[in-house]
Amino acid sequence: MTAIRLAEDHWAAVLHDHWGIRAELSRLDGEYDLNYRALTPDGQGYILKAMRPGCVSELVDMQIAALAHLQNTDPGLPVPRTVAASNGELCLSLQDDTGEDRLVWVQTLLPGRCYAKSAPKSAELIREIGATLAGTTRALKDFVHPSLERRFKWDLMTADWITDDITCIADDSRQQVIAEICADFSSLKSQLDAQPRQAIHNDANDYNILVTGELSEPRVVSGLIDLGDMCAAPRICDLAIAAAYVVLDHPQPQRALAALVSGYHAVTPLTEEELGLLWPLLRMRLAVSVVNSTLEAKENPDDHYVTISQEPAWRFLGQPSEHPALITARLRATCGLTVVDGADRVLAYLETHSGDFFPLMGRDLTGFPMGSLSVEESTWPQNPFDMPLAEAAEVGHEFSGANGANWWLGYYREPRLIYTAPAFRKGEYLASDRRTVHLAVDVFAPAGQSLHAPLAGEVQVVEDRANHLDYGGVVILKHHTDSGDAFYTLYGHLDPECCTRLSVGDKIAKGAPFCQLGTADQNGGWAPHVHFQLALSTEGIEADWPGVADPDDLALWTALCPNPAPLLNLSAAQVSYQPTDKSTVLAGRRAHFGGNLSLTYRDPVMLLRGWKHHLFDEWGRPYLDAYNNVPHVGHAHPRIQAAAADQLKRMNSNTRYLHPAQTAFAEKILSKMPDHLEVCFFVNSGTEANELALRLARAHTGAKGMVTPDHGYHGNTTGAIDISAYKFNAKGGVGPSGWVELVEVADDYRGTYGRDDPQCAQKYADLVDPAIAKLQASGHGVAGFIAETFPSVGGQIIPPKGYLPAVYEKIRAAGGICIADEVQTGLGRLGDYYFGFEHQGAAPDIVVLGKPIGNGHPLGVLVTTRAIADSFAQGPEFFSTFGGSTLSCRIGTEVLNIVDDEGLQENARQRGADLLNGLRDLQSRHQAIGDVRGMGLFIGVELIRTDGSEASEICAYVKNRMRDHRILIGSEGPKDNILKIRPPLTIDAEGIEMILKTLDSILSELSDS
Ligand SMILES: Cc1ncc(COP(=O)(O)O)c(C=O)c1O
Repeated sequence: MTAIRLAEDHWAAVLHDHWGIRAELSRLDGEYDLNYRALTPDGQGYILKAMRPGCVSELVDMQIAALAHLQNTDPGLPVPRTVAASNGELCLSLQDDTGEDRLVWVQTLLPGRCYAKSAPKSAELIREIGATLAGTTRALKDFVHPSLERRFKWDLMTADWITDDITCIADDSRQQVIAEICADFSSLKSQLDAQPRQAIHNDANDYNILVTGELSEPRVVSGLIDLGDMCAAPRICDLAIAAAYVVLDHPQPQRALAALVSGYHAVTPLTEEELGLLWPLLRMRLAVSVVNSTLEAKENPDDHYVTISQEPAWRFLGQPSEHPALITARLRATCGLTVVDGADRVLAYLETHSGDFFPLMGRDLTGFPMGSLSVEESTWPQNPFDMPLAEAAEVGHEFSGANGANWWLGYYREPRLIYTAPAFRKGEYLASDRRTVHLAVDVFAPAGQSLHAPLAGEVQVVEDRANHLDYGGVVILKHHTDSGDAFYTLYGHLDPECCTRLSVGDKIAKGAPFCQLGTADQNGGWAPHVHFQLALSTEGIEADWPGVADPDDLALWTALCPNPAPLLNLSAAQVSYQPTDKSTVLAGRRAHFGGNLSLTYRDPVMLLRGWKHHLFDEWGRPYLDAYNNVPHVGHAHPRIQAAAADQLKRMNSNTRYLHPAQTAFAEKILSKMPDHLEVCFFVNSGTEANELALRLARAHTGAKGMVTPDHGYHGNTTGAIDISAYKFNAKGGVGPSGWVELVEVADDYRGTYGRDDPQCAQKYADLVDPAIAKLQASGHGVAGFIAETFPSVGGQIIPPKGYLPAVYEKIRAAGGICIADEVQTGLGRLGDYYFGFEHQGAAPDIVVLGKPIGNGHPLGVLVTTRAIADSFAQGPEFFSTFGGSTLSCRIGTEVLNIVDDEGLQENARQRGADLLNGLRDLQSRHQAIGDVRGMGLFIGVELIRTDGSEASEICAYVKNRMRDHRILIGSEGPKDNILKIRPPLTIDAEGIEMILKTLDSILSELSDS
């Protein structure tokens, strides 16, 4: 410790004596050299670099010259400047604190933290790293220095030095991996040698890239530092080195690589040949790294860090990766280059000959109807996680006319939810990435229909893939253009009899009928059709072509498997699906709707389908819905659909006529209520029910004044807003009305009285006394008290037990009535209780229900005592046109029945307990969680800063990052710092695990930012 301090004092004195800079120094990590961060009292920052003893001056000179060159050529590049000493020199030879001579020089300090410690490692940030590196390469193009030509271990051109040292790796399989990498490298060496060389940075590792941007701010590359490993080499080596670190431990290494390369290519265009070298060079760099550190570990057996630091590289090299041909194809496609050699010629050939190909089905397909199975236009299958064979055999029958006799075509590039088998999922959860986008054109026609070869070909594959929902019979043909470029066509869902007739290598003449459409029994289970796909190469996919691609991977797959329309003598536009563009809808919304209709998320989601506690966007990407309480029994519940459809088939009218559905609904609701609540009023929303509650309270008491907790929300109409401090006190709100008195929310985490106070419930209740007194003094009197039983917008708060009965007692003593707004908390969500007031042991005079009771259908209900209803009945007729419509009553009853039949209250209890336990575990590990509270599936997670204050910025960050991971949650509270988790009651153990694991990893990012 003292030695370190002595050294720091020494270098601080050096900095002062020779550079005239007085600063506080702190040592930075460095392999051989001493690096100090120097901060002056006025906030200036510098890096003092004291090179290892014996370091040749040419090396420092090279760096200083290169920095000056970069500065002059492209002043916008984020590289440090060299600071001259007081005597004008840029580098001095000085003694260190032990008396050894070192070359010492000083740079400006760049802002930011190193990329290794920055999160999230988003595609945008990685693209910017590529662009920054490319800018440096461009600026260094004509930089020359004698030291660039030195020989050293980090020059990738001579990386094969490791071949002789491979035996230092003890593990045989690891040694084998390195041997293979070396073999690949040597097979490419001549190609590499032929690449032009120039000065390159040569060490853009994750500690040499600096990044700024906190929480939700965009991450920006703020520095590219340490030019000590510069050398002359092909620029692709520079990119390969950066790439080697960008892919390590990245959850989607191929996408990270593509982002890096596209950023680089946009600034300094790369060639196809360079891209072909990237993957092997990247692996070679990691191989050099692990061999080098293994050798170092042998020399320093006590330094365990050397071995630990190898682990990410070993993990990466050991994991199965995509075929290198596909990796290169993806990079080429990302850069807008031809995906494989000859691709442009094949496409031109197909375009030129379109119209002359033999009709696939022996007849002209032009004018055949298109049928969409898209996420947006189709409801196949009903459950997007399970396509039963009965549905598969019928898929699209609405397009096939009577008896399936008519023909129709299915779109290319169409996102579909019909691919439900686990093979289409790319992660562990139902909401993980999923392949949805169709890469072929389908021709639906009767089983037995012959298929003719559009042009001459040779059988490459003929197989029966008999698994459910696979291809059944499948044939792949290889073709050649006039100029000899190969391409391939695939025919899926065939009658497997073709397997008995055709063999690999058979020649098929143009127009020859070579196979036929299978029945559902033969073709994997589908309605008869052919999946007709084109591929420009089969390298890396061989016989196992993906017929469907991940929507976030379309650049590769639509380039490798382009639209086959020309081969069908059809126009590409006719068969290419165009999903509704999210940005068009957003623009329409901005044009036609008011500006205070808010949208969630910086990058809003467009959701088109749902099932239970999942939703799907326009590309079929699944999301776990952990936020929406309206779809109480789950999205798209078949029983709700059936009840609604059935009633709409019959009639839908209002409460002016008798209908058994109305009384049935009332009886079902009342069966859940305490006995003193006997009368139901049906309206259209929670708002309307609260508005009505105000009228009832006034009619019954003759008074006007209301007491209500602060930050409450009861609806959007004039009266409801007057009792909703969340709205009237919001920026631009109408402000308080004289007849409403606010009381502090009974928040025992952040409020005046805490959980540790045994009298806390009573103390919060006592706050009602002055409110009552004020209303009485002002002449408004006390009509009543209204509260969300568990305040939701106020921050998912569970008031201390006994709070409400104590309040109710005071209100009733003042002549008022007590209204429980159970819109958020009712109907089993709380698990242990059907309604929140049961937890409190309170007996409200009016209960208001909304949102979940219609599962999405607009429905509100007010339940009250006979006496209050009678007082109200003294006034004018009550009528709500749609309130209590036959349809609403059918749906409401069905919702309540489903909660019972499916045991959803019990599910809320169990899953809620799992979630709360998991969240409390996260709280013990993440400082940002100040409080975890809730009951059943009504949960709040309060996020705080280190000083305990409300962390709205962390909350916004976490909410948006959860969405990046396909989990929808909300945020709430007066300072918007409380995560609101409130899923449909169908959520299962998998969903809970996904929330917890994802939240854990996102909260871990906070320590990095
Ligand atoms: C507690 C509470 N009451 C009433 C309402 C108003 O319901 P609606 O929007 O259906 O009118 C809401 C809506 O969020 C609510 O949360």
